Amino acid sequence: MPGVFLDMKAHALLLMALLAPMNAGADEATNSYYEPAAFFRIQILPILQKRCFECHSKEHEIEGGLALDSKTGWMTGGDHGPAVTPNNLKKSPLIQAIRHHNSDSAMPPEEKLPPIEIALLETWVLLGAPDPRTDNPASKTGPK
Ligand code: HEC
Repeated sequence: MPGVFLDMKAHALLLMALLAPMNAGADEATNSYYEPAAFFRIQILPILQKRCFECHSKEHEIEGGLALDSKTGWMTGGDHGPAVTPNNLKKSPLIQAIRHHNSDSAMPPEEKLPPIEIALLETWVLLGAPDPRTDNPASKTGPK
């Protein structure tokens, strides 16, 4: 089990590598600037949309009581509480689910995400889970 510092270091390196192309057109002054909202919209939201919204959004289904189409959705979480604890991989059921360690709660249920997408979601949590979405919070389906 790697320590949290190793974890952080690996993810920081990954993040720098990933952000490089985003900044390709930027001038010198802003070259290495990390922008939380852009990171979420460019790297994280598309994964959620493509892999999770089908079962975790107001537009489709809200399985397990968990909506991922709003910040309120993952903060409130599903039947088992908040899906993400910012900065804490172990206390983020969403991360435990995508690692597929436990087949009962493996997400997506059918097919494990590609490693790069798992690493991106882990990086997002370690960065404090920035999520600029403010509009249209998904409501729960009803009483549990
Ligand atoms: C094909 C449908 C489907 C897809 C796609 C899917 N899920 Fe789920 N998810 C479910 C169902 C059904 C449950 C509730 C039962 C269970 O826990 O197995 C659930 C439950 C969960 C829970 C636990 C919620 C709680 O509090 O009990 C988490 C976390 C979760 N999903 C995350 C994700 C993430 C992240 C993705 C995308 C990477 C995803 N799911 C994609 C169907 C899906």
